[in-house]
Order: sequence, then C-alpha cells, then structure tokens
Amino acid sequence: MGNARIVGSGSFLPEKIVSNEELAATLNSKGIKTSDEWIIQRTGICQRHLAENLTTSYMAGEAAKLALLDADIKSSELDMIIVATSTPDNVFPSTACLVQANIQAYSASAFDIQAACSGFVYALSVANSFISSGFAKNIMVIGSEIFSRIIDWNDRKTCVLFGDGAGAFVLSESGDLHSGILSVDLQANGDYSSILSVGSHFNNSAIVGDPFIRMDGQAVFKQAINFLEISARNICKKSNFPLESIDWFVPHQANIRIMNALGHKLGIPNDKFIITVDKHANTSAASIPLAFDYARKDGRIKERDVVLMQGVGGGFTCGSILAVV
Ligand code: UT7
Repeated sequence: MGNARIVGSGSFLPEKIVSNEELAATLNSKGIKTSDEWIIQRTGICQRHLAENLTTSYMAGEAAKLALLDADIKSSELDMIIVATSTPDNVFPSTACLVQANIQAYSASAFDIQAACSGFVYALSVANSFISSGFAKNIMVIGSEIFSRIIDWNDRKTCVLFGDGAGAFVLSESGDLHSGILSVDLQANGDYSSILSVGSHFNNSAIVGDPFIRMDGQAVFKQAINFLEISARNICKKSNFPLESIDWFVPHQANIRIMNALGHKLGIPNDKFIITVDKHANTSAASIPLAFDYARKDGRIKERDVVLMQGVGGGFTCGSILAVV
C-alpha cells in the first residue's frame, strides 16, 4: 500500500488557437471594446485553444491515452476513472463512463466530480484515499473542460479569460508513505457561491436561468489569493513540510497576477511557479494537469521533486495537494 503516486501524465489541447488580437478584432467588430494589451496586462493570457466540435469526453480520452503510455500501463489495469468537469457531455452518463468505453478500461469504476476550477485537486484527493486505503491500485484522474460553450461571447469581462483542454494523471500505489501524495487540504465556503456561477438548470426541456458563466472578477480575484494562501500554509503545517522546500508551485491557471500575488504573500520567488495561463488561458479543472504535464515534459518537474498543486474557483472551493513526484 502507501500513498498514491503520479506515474504518468498526458495532455490534450484542441488544434484551434485564437490569439488575443483575433479575439479582440471579433469583439471590436461587434462594438465590444477590448484589446490584446488589456488582456495581457490584466491576466497574462496571450491565446486560448477552442474545442469547436470536439466533446469533453473525447478530449479526456485523448489525454488519458497519453497518460497511460507515459505510465506504461494498460487501460485494463485501471481500477477507477475520475473525471473532474463542470462541462460534461451529458447530464448523465458521466463523462468518466464515456472515457471508460473509449479507452476500453472495463475493469474500472467510473464517475465525475464537480468542484469547478478546484475539481482536479478534489478528484486527486479522492483517488489518493482509494489508493492509500487499499481499495484501488491504479486510478486515472482527468480534468477536461469546454468552457467556450458556457461563455457569453458578448461579455468582455469573461469571454477573454477561458480556453478548452484536458489533462490526465495515472496514479498508482507508491509503496511507502514518504513518496507520492504527502498531504491534502480541501476547503469550501458556499457563502461566496454568487461571485462565480453558471446559474441555470434544466426543467421540462427548457434551460431555466442564465446559461452563461458570470463572475464578480474583483471579488473572485481577492478570494482566490486569500483561499490559496490559507490552503498552502495549512497543507505545509499538516504535513510538517516547509513551504520554502517545495520545488514547484502549480496553481490553478486563471490570472498571472493572482499567481504573482500568491508568491509575494508566501515569500516564494516567481520562478518556482509553473505558468501556462499565457498559452492555455483558464481551462478550469484541466488547468493543473495541463500545467503539470507541460513542465514535466519540458524537464522542469523531475522525479523526486516536491510539487504543490492548488485549485481555486466556483463554490467557492479551494484545494491543495502536496506530492513527491
Ligand atoms: O477560474 C476561476 C477563477 N477566476 C479568477 O480567478 C478570475 C479572477 N478575476 C480576475 O482575474 C480579474 O478580476 C479580471 C481579469 C476578471 C478583471 O481584472 P481587473 O483588474 O479586476 O479589472 P476590473 O474588473 O476592475 O475592470 C477594470 C476595467 C473596467 O472598466 P472601468 O469600470 O474601469 O471603466 C472594466 O469594465 O476594465 C474593463 N474591462 C475590460 N476592458 C477591456 C473588463 N473586461 C475588459 C476587457 N477589455 N476584456
């Protein structure tokens, strides 16, 4: 037994890339004022990938196949598939069941988790509990999102912020308590539910309420930094691991200014932060595995490195995972 260890990772990004300049030109032509300069200065985003006619489950499946190859295990060896998403293909079946069929992982149970942009960290914590308690050996955890379908493309406050994509981890037993996931910290506060939401539901074939993402940007900005700082300090205290000894910080990729402010509050230099928000924009539950996989493949995150992954977003939710790679 032992903790869950990340033994493979994989990413999928749709081919279609839209730069800030292209998006600004489209919005300006509709009389909506924005610019490349504004988007870069306020967010650090330069471009986003858009899924167009792809599905969340398809992207999840592609990321999962690459993670299996990376882990060098067969899909038949998976005991469980967990997909973190707020943009599933269907109300049900779960996206995880569709991935299970796609990758032919018929020994695996399958279910989705919805905790908005904290979803991947919540899903990792569930997978870790199943593995460390001995109920599962190999688990596929995926974050996959198509936020471009829940964006109001006439709302400049939100439509410039998001992108689509998927990232996946294979987790397996580490064999000991000093490698793999060392500690978990999960938080939620429903009092802040209104600052970031898609406030609609289905009723008798009609969508009732606003079908688009709405956000009080400044409130979310403030709470994100607040929650991330508290959670980072909590997890280090729980695991008795000094913050300054962490090799890499992989926070949710929403805004470069949030990550810079977090680094400043924690006293951590910017070069310890993995940043992909410039290339991917905010991909919600997919942002952490996409950023982790990017930095692993470019050689920055290496075996035995200690990594802090942190999600934050709608709910309000926040979560941290401290892991030895
Ligand atoms: O994944 C979930 C977590 N989400 C987040 O973490 C997002 C958190 N929030 C943010 O990242 C930032 O609050 C934003 C990037 C959304 C906005 O940045 P800001 O510095 O807080 O800007 P602001 O909302 O204070 O807006 C400043 C100005 C306003 O105009 P006035 O009132 O000063 O005339 C906005 O109307 O910028 C205007 N504005 C824009 N201008 C050009 C808002 N959006 C745009 C835009 N282009 N796209």
